[in-house]
Amino acid sequence: MSLSMFTFSSSASPWVPTLVLLLSLPLLFLLAPRILPLRPVPISLHDELDDISLFHRAAADSPPHQHQPLSSAKSRLGSTNPKPKIAFLFLTNSDLHFAPLWEQFFSNGSQSTNRYNIYIHADPTVKINPPGGVFTDRFIPAKRTRRSSATLIAAARRLLATALLDDSRNAFFALLSQHCIPLHSFDFVYNTLFHRSIPELAQLGSLQYRSFIEISSKEWYLLLRYDARGKNAMLPEVPFEHFRFGSQFFVLTRRHAVAVVRDRRQMWRKFRLPCIFSCYPEEHYFPTLLSMEDPEGCTHYTLTRVNWTDCNDGHPHTYRPPELSPELIYKLRQSNFTHPYLFARKFSPDCLTPLLNISDSVIFRD
Ligand SMILES: *[C@@H]1O[C@H](CO)[C@@H](O)[C@H](O)[C@H]1NC(C)=O
Ligand SMILES: *[C@@H]1O[C@H](CO)[C@@H](O)[C@H](O)[C@H]1NC(C)=O
Ligand SMILES: *[C@@H]1O[C@H](CO)[C@@H](O)[C@H](O)[C@H]1NC(C)=O
Repeated sequence: MSLSMFTFSSSASPWVPTLVLLLSLPLLFLLAPRILPLRPVPISLHDELDDISLFHRAAADSPPHQHQPLSSAKSRLGSTNPKPKIAFLFLTNSDLHFAPLWEQFFSNGSQSTNRYNIYIHADPTVKINPPGGVFTDRFIPAKRTRRSSATLIAAARRLLATALLDDSRNAFFALLSQHCIPLHSFDFVYNTLFHRSIPELAQLGSLQYRSFIEISSKEWYLLLRYDARGKNAMLPEVPFEHFRFGSQFFVLTRRHAVAVVRDRRQMWRKFRLPCIFSCYPEEHYFPTLLSMEDPEGCTHYTLTRVNWTDCNDGHPHTYRPPELSPELIYKLRQSNFTHPYLFARKFSPDCLTPLLNISDSVIFRD
């Protein structure tokens, strides 16, 4: 499948970017006094307009509250109807170290080719060896990303918007990084998202899938992160009572992917402002937005296991080859929530060989 429809050809609607530019000018003047005393915004106006045009098209393409009632989900799972898909969104600034493991993950699934799509956002300033196989030609138009900055939010939204536009059968959107590995087979992941969540939903009387995203307000540093752009800088779009924390990696439903690219509360205006001191905007933007838009529609936990013991400069524990064993995989799957963990991070690149050694016997054996 070609992604060429996402290159920004001016033939589509040449007046849209111009209109957006005109409409944004008053906003820029409004924000300028806030921006100028701080470090320069890493996202250029040109990139911002590019994104606005992409997000606008993606949000316009999908109705705002596209519910996925069980009845239609079931009928879509029937043999004559096409199956809903999972969009796997890889956000990376280096080689996809675990591409061979993911390749096995995707090719081992039954009829898996009709049940997933892959999209890669790779920092264009970094030279990346093309991974080939199922990853061939899956790179989307990307922009520079920088740790601890709003560029990571923008990149994740670009992935969501591109996947929304590319295939209307993308029903779940799983954000992953180059350090993530699968903890289960493709079939297990697919069935967990599309089937195993259903009894839980039925009990709750809810007839739609939920997003798997951590949403928390218990962290001691929440106020520090909130004030990282200056006192009251987040107001009025984001009152502190609504400010949330959560894992950067999540699995969103289609209606939540639309909510994120639409951002009707214009929270991006605030989250894009640079922080005066260290902050991790991507850990707050998505949980805050979704908890304001649709808290019941989210599980409030993530499916991606991370080990924060002895975290170092904001980095979680990185597993190295000597730590790898079947027992580690079994341990990482265990969760205190309804669903086991499906993915885990972070693993050093040299874990690939030992992981491939236990892929068939452990990782993809459920
Ligand atoms: C988490 O990381 C610590 C080291 O930082 C390690 O001792 C511990 O075993 C890890 N936990 C799991 C579940 O892997
Ligand atoms: C589950 O909860 C217990 C008790 O709070 C905690 O010690 C443990 O680390 C949790 N396990 C996971 C996988 O988060
Ligand atoms: C491969 O895995 C088996 C256990 O499944 C282990 O005994 C063996 O040492 C591993 N080999 C390598 C090269 O990691």
